[in-house]
Amino acid sequence: MKKSILITGASGNLGSAVVRKFQEEGYTLYAIARGPEGLIDGVQFANVDLTQETAVGDYLRELTQKDPELKSAILLVGAFALGGLKETDGAALEKMIKLNFHTAYYVVRALLPHFEQAGGGQFVLIGSRPGFQPQDAVHSVAYGLSKAMVHYLAEVINAYGKGKGIRASVVIPSTIDTPQNRESMPDADFSKWVPAEGIADAIYFLFTEPGQLLRETVIKVYHES
Ligand SMILES: NC(=O)c1ccc[n+]([C@@H]2O[C@H](COP(=O)([O-])OP(=O)(O)OC[C@H]3O[C@@H](n4cnc5c(N)ncnc54)[C@H](OP(=O)(O)O)[C@@H]3O)[C@@H](O)[C@H]2O)c1
Repeated sequence: MKKSILITGASGNLGSAVVRKFQEEGYTLYAIARGPEGLIDGVQFANVDLTQETAVGDYLRELTQKDPELKSAILLVGAFALGGLKETDGAALEKMIKLNFHTAYYVVRALLPHFEQAGGGQFVLIGSRPGFQPQDAVHSVAYGLSKAMVHYLAEVINAYGKGKGIRASVVIPSTIDTPQNRESMPDADFSKWVPAEGIADAIYFLFTEPGQLLRETVIKVYHES
């Protein structure tokens, strides 16, 4: 029997492609989005604001009791903001940390005891180039810093999870071919961007038999951009 997977940001550009991919592959999915609750196209959607630590903890405690086979989480929530060092004040910084880091951290913290008890578990986190290449963060400082926290979180999970069957991978897309990106960069060559389906396939590889052997994995899905 295929295991169950939690997918956050499931209604987003990347999220919907990931949901489709894992649905095709026959996984039991628990999707989090802020849209409607219930069963949508065969997938159980829950409306949870992932910036709210107590709500996240309550939801995941109940879910892991209901489905002990939940041993993987693909954490896709994220948001982007422009702004260099001089423009980025504390509020702008906090907003990005909340949306990019807290939304992942609260889920990791809530699932970790269950993964330990279950003898293992897998997290997939979404990074970005400004999160580890400072030259790419010059015009999006808060975004870059918040994604750097996500990258480091994966490393801490891997250090903690060694010998416990717990691991974290980071998937780093360049520019995803989304309607929003096309609208904000109309003159770009879209063919160089990464289709969300390609990233979903890369994430899926982590769940295959050879993919299960990887540890401390960082997958850069850049295509030509
Ligand atoms: N787009 C790119 O070019 C690009 C490049 C590199 C990395 N990334 C990263 O890839 C990931 C996916 O990007 P995307 O373009 O697919 O994003 P997206 O379409 O904006 O989707 C974001 C998802 O997160 C959900 N979300 C936002 N705030 C939430 C909250 N507080 N609680 C629960 N859910 C929340 C959104 O739900 P609602 O619809 O309800 O808001 C939506 O489902 C992000 O981590 C992003 O940083 C994107």
